[in-house]
Amino acid sequence: MTGICIGLDIGTSNMTAYVEGKGIVFSRPSAIACDTHTGRILAVGEDAFAMTGRTPGSVTVIRPFSEGVVSDMKITVAMLSQFIDEVCRLTVLKPNIIAGVPGEITGVERNAILDVLKSAGASRVCIMEHPYAAAVGADVAFTKPYGTMLIDIGGGTVDISVVSMNSVAAVRTLRFGSEALTQDIIKYLRRERDIEVGYLTAEDIKKTIGGAVVRNEEIALVAKGRNAVTGSPINFEVTSTEVYWAIKEHIDMILTGVKEILSSISPELSADIFESGIVLTGKGSLLYGIDSFLESSTGVQVRIAKEPWLCVAKGLGKSMHNIRKLKKSGYGFEYFNEL
Ligand SMILES: Nc1ncnc2c1ncn2[C@@H]1O[C@H](COP(=O)(O)OP(=O)(O)OP(=O)(O)O)[C@@H](O)[C@H]1O
Ligand SMILES: [Mg+2]
Repeated sequence: MTGICIGLDIGTSNMTAYVEGKGIVFSRPSAIACDTHTGRILAVGEDAFAMTGRTPGSVTVIRPFSEGVVSDMKITVAMLSQFIDEVCRLTVLKPNIIAGVPGEITGVERNAILDVLKSAGASRVCIMEHPYAAAVGADVAFTKPYGTMLIDIGGGTVDISVVSMNSVAAVRTLRFGSEALTQDIIKYLRRERDIEVGYLTAEDIKKTIGGAVVRNEEIALVAKGRNAVTGSPINFEVTSTEVYWAIKEHIDMILTGVKEILSSISPELSADIFESGIVLTGKGSLLYGIDSFLESSTGVQVRIAKEPWLCVAKGLGKSMHNIRKLKKSGYGFEYFNEL
């Protein structure tokens, strides 16, 4: 006997769960707030994330994943246990979990994910890379020998891949994601404007006026910060053009990754992609103009998938019904204990 099946997209920024028979049940920040002295968990998910930068010295907000992989085992187990308990409230048996991981991870990183899921209460685990899950979740037809490129822009990683013949034909994982753009904004304001801002303010600036292209009409935002010289709180205006320049280096690095993959694959796959286009997934693909920037820089048509932030979790969910067939693509469950 086995428990329910959960598709778990364990993201650097967000954790999203798909439960068999129910669909997506939550998508919430990968964050946990703990008492600094006792280690007691005070909050997880949204509540913990909202405390970022606002905690007293006795509380720490921890983001237990970095670059898409486990950076703090103990905290990750605590956070996952809480999420899994919530999903499995009414069931006795331990769940089977299909977990999404970055396209390129080391054996050590893969084992760390298996270990934390086992400790958090999983009975069986199947590890599936983001590119495969995103392709299934974005409804990309890739059973035939015909290539399509996907770019999953997450918080801690950018997975650039080519899928064909029901598998991942090429993949490159860039070890930075949209969170690096938020850090770019913090550094830019400190360096060029002598202004200090918190992480949540910089996130807001990125989402509201950030962009991968210069806007035809510049827009601006008034935000709260601190004068780095005097230490006084200030309201300041920042423009979309400033943010464009602040994040440009990382945007260009994504383009370089795409060009490298395009030039490393076979001419046949490359020709397919020029016809089939590029599909963007991950919440980072909501950045203004990222699709038009990549399209004009590569000459390949780019489209953003529907609900791009849910594609990986949906793909994990759809795959759970197909797990026998997936054996041919190299996916299967690893067993721990049934109860
Ligand atoms: N409207 C928006 N514009 C730009 N970026 C956004 C927007 N909304 C969310 N983001 C960014 O998307 C990132 C989170 O994306 P996502 O949830 O896909 O990441 P993840 O799956 O947790 O990370 P990873 O797959 O890298 O481990 C965050 O850095 C967030 O700031
Ligand atoms: Mg992701």
